[in-house]
Amino acid sequence: MNASRATSVHDLRRMARARLPRAVFDFVDGAACDERSARANVDDYGAVRFVPRLLRDVSHTSVATTLLGAPAAAPIAIAPTGLATLVHPDADRVLAREAARAGIPFVLSTAAGTALEDVAAVGEGRRWFQLYVFRDRSITERLIERAEAAGYDALVLTVDVPVVGKRDRDRRNGFTVPLRLTPATLLDFALHPRWCLDLARHGMPTMRNYELGDLGGRSHAEVVGALYDPGLTWEALAWLRARWKGPLLIKGLLALDDVLRAADHGVEAVVVSNHGGRQIDGTSSTIRALADWGPQAAARVPLLVDGGIRRGSDVVAALALGAQGVLIGRPTLYAAAAGGAEGVRRCLDILVEEMHLTLAHLGAASVAELGRHCVEVEARR
Ligand SMILES: Cc1cc2nc3c(=O)[nH]c(=O)nc-3n(C[C@H](O)[C@H](O)[C@H](O)COP(=O)(O)O)c2cc1C
Repeated sequence: MNASRATSVHDLRRMARARLPRAVFDFVDGAACDERSARANVDDYGAVRFVPRLLRDVSHTSVATTLLGAPAAAPIAIAPTGLATLVHPDADRVLAREAARAGIPFVLSTAAGTALEDVAAVGEGRRWFQLYVFRDRSITERLIERAEAAGYDALVLTVDVPVVGKRDRDRRNGFTVPLRLTPATLLDFALHPRWCLDLARHGMPTMRNYELGDLGGRSHAEVVGALYDPGLTWEALAWLRARWKGPLLIKGLLALDDVLRAADHGVEAVVVSNHGGRQIDGTSSTIRALADWGPQAAARVPLLVDGGIRRGSDVVAALALGAQGVLIGRPTLYAAAAGGAEGVRRCLDILVEEMHLTLAHLGAASVAELGRHCVEVEARR
């Protein structure tokens, strides 16, 4: 099937699975340990029940909104994903371009496979830079300066990687940075000649925003563990707040008290996230966290949420529970693998179309009309 004919994000995922070597698909699709958090992120949208209101004029519906005080064509941003160039050699620039075309922000990861300046060079569009704080803080300082110089609008500080999650699929597959050739990976690659051709043309994907030195094919967890600071405290947020004058987001909070504390530090928004279930396994899903305290927290600080969003109706559910917008991670990676720019465009079109349909069925002409009255949430079992 051609990516432009996909009818759902699920179709794009199936195509990505067929096109990518197993080790690469598993790196994207996989999560920590038993993958309970990752599954809950998706499944718990099923616990949100819509309450349609009928006989309202929905001849025109609008998904346009405001994100971080600036207009966005939809309440969606593309989440930061490290090493996205594994699924498509030009993934970061393709994602940035398609986000701009769709009128939504793109968040570039510190661990991206493309230099932040090269992504900025795609031109038009809102771009945010996701920051990890390094053990050597001068590396972080330098990244902030570069992001500022390259015109990134906002910084997104990710705080849920004190250590890297235990990702069993990656361990089983011997996933390393850069990918190491072993008899098993060679066979895996040989079965995916198109992907190999891209690799031969563009070289082995690796992180391009900082000097890695010779990694000698260490595991992803080892690489990240050696670089990012596990001793981070709230001091880092205060430091960054003083350092960065533009909009600052903190990503990876899941507890109400942490969200309120971040609000006290003067962040412009909090991304409620469990890193797509890739870090600690066995947490609450992010939509359950929102259902528990979303409106209360949103009264203090704008909330974005990510994890498990696979339908436009999921975006609507998150907004009804207090989020200003959402980030999507895996869906646009599946899409880039399935069909490059065309695939990503299709993915965003699908989500937006599903949002419009859900609004119309709910009797809401715009996202501003969404609220707690639009949904019931099934109690935890
Ligand atoms: C392959 C992959 C790489 C990721 N890399 C990063 C990263 O570098 N920084 C970050 O803050 N989050 C990273 N994330 C987490 C995403 O930003 C986001 O929180 C998560 O994917 C949302 O869940 P979803 O994939 O179900 O939409 C990554 C996720 C994936 C799937």
